[in-house]
Amino acid sequence: MDADELTQSVWDITEGEFPDGSPLGEQAKFLLRYAILAPSSHNSQPWQFTIRDETIEIAFDKTRWLEVADQDKRELFISIGCALENLCTAAEHFEVGYEITYHTDEDDNLVSTVTLEPDSDPSSSRPSELFDELTERYTSHQLFEDQALPRETRDQFRRVIEWDSVTLSLIDDPEQKRSIGELQAEADEAQMADPTYRQELGYWVGTGALGSSWLMARLGQAVVSHFDLGEREGRKNSKLIECAPVVALLATQEDTATAQVKTGQVFERLALLASAEDFAVHPLSQILERPEMRTKLATRAGTGEEIPQHLFRLGYVEEERTHTPRWPLESVPLTNQ
Ligand SMILES: Cc1cc2nc3c(=O)[nH]c(=O)nc-3n(C[C@H](O)[C@H](O)[C@H](O)COP(=O)(O)O)c2cc1C
Repeated sequence: MDADELTQSVWDITEGEFPDGSPLGEQAKFLLRYAILAPSSHNSQPWQFTIRDETIEIAFDKTRWLEVADQDKRELFISIGCALENLCTAAEHFEVGYEITYHTDEDDNLVSTVTLEPDSDPSSSRPSELFDELTERYTSHQLFEDQALPRETRDQFRRVIEWDSVTLSLIDDPEQKRSIGELQAEADEAQMADPTYRQELGYWVGTGALGSSWLMARLGQAVVSHFDLGEREGRKNSKLIECAPVVALLATQEDTATAQVKTGQVFERLALLASAEDFAVHPLSQILERPEMRTKLATRAGTGEEIPQHLFRLGYVEEERTHTPRWPLESVPLTNQ
């Protein structure tokens, strides 16, 4: 995929253009315009789609897997789960019923199949306001304000994920946040000390996928690839964690691809709800990228037997929402059969 094809125009979707009454393949294509707005690690957008009659197959594109940072493909599957969640949210909005199948064959890159069922009951389990947030949601990297999350918002977060087998911890104890912040600094330093990690991050910065102009992106690539900025990054990120009103952690009983796809679905649902409530969201993955630190995180966050999958900050911030670019659907590997 060509960096030149990255565009912001994908965020402008005219809802009224949904091809109601057209063949399901056409409807599927329209729904996928929302799927590609999903968040993904390094904005790598590792999805590919095949439309076969009424089914949409979602697979991962191995060329966009972060082989160094994400060795166990956890972030890859979470990112695919986010795209799947966007697809389901859009299908429910346009009253198209669907059924999801999760695939478990490790030798195959097929992750899930969504079968559109126009005659089934499209009644939604998701709050209807989430649809409008598909084109609004963004990731914030700012320091969040020191303002607690109201109890009703916490209850709302728990309600929208209660039908999934993913556990949400909302951590606001200052001592717990401090010890997770410390771990974040260690993780940043360890990751940035690895030249192959810096090179991979530099490559993605250089594509412009993380949202800067071509020149800034190339400069960013050179800086990230050649200098170990771990200590600085660690200090910054640990402060972001310690000062956040809430640090959220999603955990699952099993450490399988399906559990990670479901984690992605739950994360995206929470991110859409946060967007509706004007909360900012910021995932931080470095601790989870290092197996020994992932175990320490489980202890510090008190997840018990459950395995940590995705860590993010939640809070308020005054800033203008900006969108990162995407490869448009036309350049995402899409087979229409
Ligand atoms: C699985 C996953 C891991 C992520 N990890 C990080 C991270 O460690 N640091 C960070 O700043 N953003 C992280 N992000 C956010 C992405 O960088 C962001 O989603 C992407 O750049 C697209 O931008 P947007 O969310 O504003 O649309 C992560 C997102 C996902 C889905």
